[in-house]
Amino acid sequence: MISPSQSKQAQLQSSQLEIRRMRAPDVAGVMEIESVSFGRHHWSEESFYNEMNNHVGRYYSLVQTGAPTGSPELLGYCGFWMILDEAHITTIAVRPEFRGNALGELLLLHILERSMSSSIHWATLEVRASNYNAQNLYYKYGFNSMGVRPRYYQDNQEDALIMTTSDICSAPYRARFQQLKSALQQRLSGLPKGYGV
Ligand SMILES: CC(C)(COP(=O)(O)OP(=O)(O)OC[C@H]1O[C@@H](n2cnc3c(N)ncnc32)[C@H](O)[C@@H]1OP(=O)(O)O)[C@@H](O)C(=O)NCCC(=O)NCCS
Repeated sequence: MISPSQSKQAQLQSSQLEIRRMRAPDVAGVMEIESVSFGRHHWSEESFYNEMNNHVGRYYSLVQTGAPTGSPELLGYCGFWMILDEAHITTIAVRPEFRGNALGELLLLHILERSMSSSIHWATLEVRASNYNAQNLYYKYGFNSMGVRPRYYQDNQEDALIMTTSDICSAPYRARFQQLKSALQQRLSGLPKGYGV
């Protein structure tokens, strides 16, 4: 069982990480992270199996390669829908004890890189109005709040902020993206296998 109060792990290096398409055996680990990340409102196992077969869906697992015995392999995951020229981010989460180590940022960067290489121009998402940690991550990558979906979350009737980037293929966005990517590369000593693929 994961406890958010477990101590933060040491910074992982890119050589210890891999991003790959989510597969059925990952779902058990995904569900562990889901339940501690999204409370009662989390997705079911069935939702993930369906999403892995959704032709517009792209779901990725971030794994620790050669994880020491007793240490989890699956550290996080993300997913998005490719709808015409838009990437709609449906999920992103990191195992609590590994948060604050740039892994959430790595997953978001991966989605954006993957989207740019598919000539997608816009990234959008919904986020809980109270989820400031996630909102900070999105603001860092140029998302802006474009409106509110009132009482979007059924568990507590919380509003969702609708967040959208500017054109991610534009020169100004790419310049900003490259700066952030370089800083992340420095922090992780490179980018992991599978990044952007
Ligand atoms: C949101 C989430 C994915 C971030 O992952 P993470 O690995 O902890 O975050 P990172 O270390 O990559 O941080 C990247 C940026 O996010 C923001 N951020 C992350 N944690 C933060 C915190 N505790 N306080 C303030 N900002 C925070 C910052 O902008 C940070 O950039 P910085 O390092 O330059 O300050 C993670 O907190 C999570 O899994 N939360 C639960 C699931 C969730 O809410 N998902 C989003 C649904 S919309």
